[in-house]
Amino acid sequence: MTQRTVMVLNGPNLNLLGTREPEIYGHDTLDDIAARLVARGAELGIEIDCRQTNHEGMLVDWLHEAREGGVHAVLLNAGAYTHTSIALLDAIKAIQLPVIEVHLSDPEARESFRHLSYVGMAAVDCVKGLGPDSYLVALDRAAAL
Ligand code: DQA
Repeated sequence: MTQRTVMVLNGPNLNLLGTREPEIYGHDTLDDIAARLVARGAELGIEIDCRQTNHEGMLVDWLHEAREGGVHAVLLNAGAYTHTSIALLDAIKAIQLPVIEVHLSDPEARESFRHLSYVGMAAVDCVKGLGPDSYLVALDRAAAL
């Protein structure tokens, strides 16, 4: 059986996890989270392709690449672009791949400007508010798709 790939895309400021507002985002780094995803992926027969960028267009390019590369599903924590990016909304619609929205915090329990999610308008699912476990739960859901 060929191994399925799940792409895990992370947007702006998530490279600073571990030191960035730890009272909101916790103390785990993105590398810590990626290692947990790889371990869980191995149990599920899923290869993890985890990336981070601070640039909106790079996220769009990677979503296009996911379609071309035959990726099974995408986990997307677009950071603040979640709440601003029509380009990401359009890209998710364009690629016709299941995209699961992920957040460490629960944006809807925070400032009102975080309540709108363009990503959520096209994502098939959303896991939020569980800290790093949001990614693990999202991976389990992706595996079930
Ligand atoms: C976040 C929530 C966003 O509102 C914020 O801009 C982030 C992180 C989260 O994972 O909780 O950068 O996506």
